[in-house]
Amino acid sequence: MMIIAGNWKMNMDRASASALVKTLSAEIKPLTAHLDMIVFPPAVLIDTAINASPSSALAVGGQDCHFNANGAHTGDISAAMLVDAGCQWVLVGHSERRSDHGETNDIVAAKAEAALSAGLKVMICVGETLAERESGKANDVVAAQVLGSLPQDLPSDRFALAYEPVWAIGTGKVASPEDVDDMHNHLRAVLIGRNPDYAAVDILYGGSVKPDNAAGLLALANVGGALVGGASLKAEDFLAIANAAPHS
Ligand code: 13P
Repeated sequence: MMIIAGNWKMNMDRASASALVKTLSAEIKPLTAHLDMIVFPPAVLIDTAINASPSSALAVGGQDCHFNANGAHTGDISAAMLVDAGCQWVLVGHSERRSDHGETNDIVAAKAEAALSAGLKVMICVGETLAERESGKANDVVAAQVLGSLPQDLPSDRFALAYEPVWAIGTGKVASPEDVDDMHNHLRAVLIGRNPDYAAVDILYGGSVKPDNAAGLLALANVGGALVGGASLKAEDFLAIANAAPHS
C-alpha cells in the first residue's frame, strides 16, 4: 500500500499537534482504504498525537531511536520506549540526523535492527547532497547508503525506503519527475539485487513535496509514497497530498 507520511521534525506544540491530528483523523478514513498514513512527531508529542487520534487510522512513529535497548544514553530514547508509547514506526537515517549527529550507515543499520527487534517498522532514509549530484555520483552514493543502512535479514514487510535528496529538503526545490523516476528505478534495482523479496517494498520520495507537485511524483511507477516535511504541518496541505495519490 502506498504510504503518505508527515515528518514534523522539531516543530509543533501540544495544542497545535492535537488540533492537527484531530483534523487529519476526521478526514482520512476514506484515504486509508488505499493509503497508509503516518505522522512522525517529536518524541514529547507522540503521546499527544496518539491521544488525539480516536481510531488507529493514523499511525504514529518516532523520528529516531537509539541502537541500544536501554542504558546510560542521556537524551536518547529506545525503540521499546516508542512501542510502549504506541508507535508503529520509526524513521532512521534522516539526512538531518546524518549531518547534525554524524550518523553513519553502520549506526543507521544498528538503529534499524534495534527497531525491528522491538517490533517497529522502519523507514530508512537516504539521499545525496547537491555536490554529489552535480559530480554525477548520486546513484553510487545512494546505492552505498542503501546497502550500508539496511540490516541483514530485514523482512520486506517491515520496512520502507525514503529517498530524500538533501538539496530538495526544505528548499522548495523539488526534484524533477524525471530525476525521481530515474533514482527510484535505480533504487528498485539496488533493493532487488540485495533481496528479490524487496520488489514490492515502498520507496517514498521526500523533499519539498507540496499539494501542487504531489500528483506528478506519486504517479511514477517506483514511487510508493511521500515523506513530507513542511507541508505535513498543515492539515489542508497534507490531506491534499494524500488526495493526489493514485488509488491503486
Ligand atoms: P520538506 O518537505 O520540508 O522539504 O522536508 C522533507 C523531509 O525531510 C521529510 O523527512
